[in-house]
Amino acid sequence: MINKILTKKKKEKIICLTAYSKNLASIIDNYCDIILVGDSVANVVYGMSHTHKITLSTIIQHAQSVRKGTKKSLLVVDMPKGTYDNVAKAIKNAKIIIKKTKCDAVKIESNKKNFKIISGLVRSKIKVMGHIGFTPQFKKKFKVEGKTAKSKNKLLEEAKKVEKAGAFSVVLECISSQAAKEITQHLKIPTIGIGSSSNCDGQILVTDDLIGLSGFYPKFVKKYCDINKIVSKAVKRYRNDVKKKLFPSQNNSF
Ligand code: KIV
Repeated sequence: MINKILTKKKKEKIICLTAYSKNLASIIDNYCDIILVGDSVANVVYGMSHTHKITLSTIIQHAQSVRKGTKKSLLVVDMPKGTYDNVAKAIKNAKIIIKKTKCDAVKIESNKKNFKIISGLVRSKIKVMGHIGFTPQFKKKFKVEGKTAKSKNKLLEEAKKVEKAGAFSVVLECISSQAAKEITQHLKIPTIGIGSSSNCDGQILVTDDLIGLSGFYPKFVKKYCDINKIVSKAVKRYRNDVKKKLFPSQNNSF
C-alpha cells in the first residue's frame, strides 16, 4: 500500500484527510490515499488547548474506531507528545499503537533533533511519516516558516534528514510556497502539505474544518460544505416534529 503511494510522486496528487471515528472514516475512505488519526483530535473533538494534551490510550481508542471504517486507505496514527522521547520508548509505544489499532504507519513531529527516533523506528520495521514546519507538539506560537532564504534552507536540511532517517513521507505544515517547492523537488519521498501551497506531492486537511464542523477556518482551510447548517436544520425539524407530535409517527412505533 505504501509503495502505491510512493509511486504517485510527481505523477498524481496524494489525497489525505484526518478522521477520528468510524463513520466519517468510512465516507472519506472512498476518496483518500491516506487517513490520519491526528493528535488534532485533542482540539477538534475534546476542545483541549493543545494537541500535546492527548494521551496514548485516547488516540488508540480513536484509531480503533477509524480502523473499522478504513478499508482501502493507508491508516497513519499520530504519536502523542511524550510517547517518543527516546528510541526505546518510541519503539515500545509505536508497537502498542500498531498492535492495538492495526494501523499501517505512525507519524512523529520533528523537533529538528529527533531524526534518530525515526531511524530507530524504521530499523524496527515500523513505517514512519515525518512532520516539519509548524509542529504544534514542539512550537508554542503559530508561524509560517521558510519565508527567508535562511529559514528555507534550514527546512530543506531538516526534510533531507527526515528522509535519510527512513520516513516514507513527510508532512509540511504551514511553510512558504517556495520552501515547499524546493523541498518537494529535492526529496525522493512524497511531501504532504497543509498550509504549504500546491507545490507538495499531496495535501492534507482536518476533515472537520473542510466540512464546516469545527468552526476553525484559517487561510489555508477551504470549507467545502457547511455541516453545521445542515445539522442545525435537521435538529430544528426534529424539534418541531416532536413538539407537534409528528414524530414518532405510527411508523416509528411498536
Ligand atoms: O494532527 C493533525 O491533524 C495533523 C495534521 C494537521 C497534519 O498533524
